[in-house]
Amino acid sequence: KSVGIIGCPFSGGQAKELEWNVEFDGHHKLTELRPAEDPNIGKLKKPRYVSRVTEAVSKAVESHLKRGQLALTLGGDHSLALGTVVGTLSVHPEACLIWIDAHADINTPETTESGNLHGCPVSFLLGIAGKVPGFEWVKPFLKPDRLVYIGLRDVDRPEKKILKQLGIKAYSMHEVDKYGIGKVVEMALDSVNPKRDRPIHLSFDVDGLDPTVAPSTGTPVRGGLTFREGHYICEAIHNTGCLVSVDIMEVNVNPLLFDEASVFETVTIGCSLIRCCLGETLL
Ligand code: ARG
Ligand code: MN
Ligand code: MN
Ligand code: MN
Repeated sequence: KSVGIIGCPFSGGQAKELEWNVEFDGHHKLTELRPAEDPNIGKLKKPRYVSRVTEAVSKAVESHLKRGQLALTLGGDHSLALGTVVGTLSVHPEACLIWIDAHADINTPETTESGNLHGCPVSFLLGIAGKVPGFEWVKPFLKPDRLVYIGLRDVDRPEKKILKQLGIKAYSMHEVDKYGIGKVVEMALDSVNPKRDRPIHLSFDVDGLDPTVAPSTGTPVRGGLTFREGHYICEAIHNTGCLVSVDIMEVNVNPLLFDEASVFETVTIGCSLIRCCLGETLL
C-alpha cells in the first residue's frame, strides 16, 4: 500500500507568525540507496547503506545552506548527523556543534559494542574512526574544541575515555542539576562559541529529553531533560542569532514499536522544539 502526501507550505489565509518561508522538498528517498549486499565491516552493521545515505544527506544540507536557508533535518536515526554536520561544515567551516543527547554517539568502529552506526557518528566527524571503506567522503573534520554536549547520562566506558583524551566539553545531567539549564547553555556556548560569532549546528536527539516527555525513541534513558529544559536550549540558541542548521533526531514513528499516543507526544514536542529554534517566544 502507498500514500501520496501533498505538502502545502502556505499561510496566505492567516496572519503569519514567525515569518519563515518553508521549503519542504518531501522526504528524501533514502531507502532506495540500500545496497543489495551489505555485510558487516568489522563490528559495523549496514556500513554501506549508512555511508550512502549520510553522504546524500550531507549534499542536501549543503544545498539548502548555500541557498541561504536554515537547514532543518528531521530524523531518523542519529547516524544521519554524520551527513548533516559534514554538510554544514562544508559551507561553514568555522561552525560549532551543540549535541543534545543522553548518549555521546562517539564510539569508534573499534569501541562500539552494538555495531550500530547511530552510536558512532561523532567519531567519524572528528576523524578518529580510522579508515572505513565507503566513508572517504567525510570531510572536513570537526575540531574537538568545536563540539559540546548537553544531557549525557548513558555514556559507554570507552566513550568516556575518548571524551577525556580529546578534552571534549560535556555537560551531563549532573551539571544540569547542579547549575541549572540557563548556566549550562551559557557555559556550553562560551566553550565553543565564546564571541558568539561562529555558525551553530544544533543536533538534538530527542532521547536527550526525559522519556516521560519524549517516549517514542529507540534508546530511552531515564533522568533526562525536562520539557522546559529542552525548549530553553532551543530558545537560547535561537537568541544567539548564529543558528544555521538543526537536526531533530531519533523520533520513532513506527506504530508497530510505539503506541499512537507516545508517537503523537514525541512528534508534538519535536515540532515545538523546532518552533523555538525558529524564534517562537513565550511572550
Ligand atoms: N552507546 C550505545 C551504542 O553505541 C547507544 C547509542 C545510542 N545512540 C543513539 N543515537 N540513540 O550503541
Ligand atoms: Mn532538500
Ligand atoms: Mn544520539
Ligand atoms: Mn541518544
